[in-house]
Amino acid sequence: MILPDSKTELARRGNKVVYDLGDKIAKVFNETKPVSDVFNEALNLARINECGIPSPKAIEVTQIEGDENGWALITSKIPGVTLAEKIEAEPQRFGEYLEQFVDLQIEIHGYSSPLLNRQDAKYSRMINSLEQINATTRYNLLERLDGLKKGQSVCHGDFNPTNVIVGENGELAVCDWAHATQGAPAADVAMTYLLFALNSKEQAEAYLETYCNRADMPMQIVHQWMPVIAASELARKRKVDEEFLLSWVDVFDYQ
Ligand SMILES: Nc1ncnc2c1ncn2[C@@H]1O[C@H](COP(=O)(O)OP(=O)(O)O)[C@@H](O)[C@H]1O
Ligand SMILES: [Mg+2]
Repeated sequence: MILPDSKTELARRGNKVVYDLGDKIAKVFNETKPVSDVFNEALNLARINECGIPSPKAIEVTQIEGDENGWALITSKIPGVTLAEKIEAEPQRFGEYLEQFVDLQIEIHGYSSPLLNRQDAKYSRMINSLEQINATTRYNLLERLDGLKKGQSVCHGDFNPTNVIVGENGELAVCDWAHATQGAPAADVAMTYLLFALNSKEQAEAYLETYCNRADMPMQIVHQWMPVIAASELARKRKVDEEFLLSWVDVFDYQ
């Protein structure tokens, strides 16, 4: 496939560029991205499409030729703006947007998709891959993970307002299913909490309170997941505050 000249760039990150092709979206990865990850994201998305969660449709995985070469995931485009853009434009309405965001996540957690990758297997693999953490702490984290309730809910794995698209009629859809698994909602909530906390502790607390109230979930369960989730975020090697994550990984501070 050759990308049309009319494309516009939506986002550029370490290993990918996301383009708007008009009626489709192309996520084009560079050579550092394992091709199997691109196919895995497409497979996750196809499974999510099949279980009925509002999401872009998976169209194809293809090799792009020309200047922007690399493997790409092509999906349908959902016209609209992200919830993150909405919050930035109208910070006084944060509470209202937060409720919509939380209700959408609770709705997703109500779905199951028995063939999705398993969350506990993914987290244990990520913990084992950590170089910043010694064997003793890794063992503690794996023991903790072992003791936590597994669950079978669809979990987005990177649920944050940049991955929620508000359509032209106000309907919400969710993109970016690269990290989707089936597992415990509380783990997914801990990840979203952590993503908020990297920018604003206040927003993170407001999020956690709203989720736990609306889903009738004890906050303690989310707290129990935090060290595991912080460790797996460390393993993702995104450009985030490593010291902050390491402080969360310190399992001895948590019981
Ligand atoms: N199908 C889509 N329809 C509309 N916008 C999209 C779609 N997919 C991605 N986007 C936009 O592109 C941005 C980056 O895409 P995303 O899949 O989230 O990549 P990343 O993994 O880099 O976060 C999103 O935050 C959203 O603004
Ligand atoms: Mg994203």
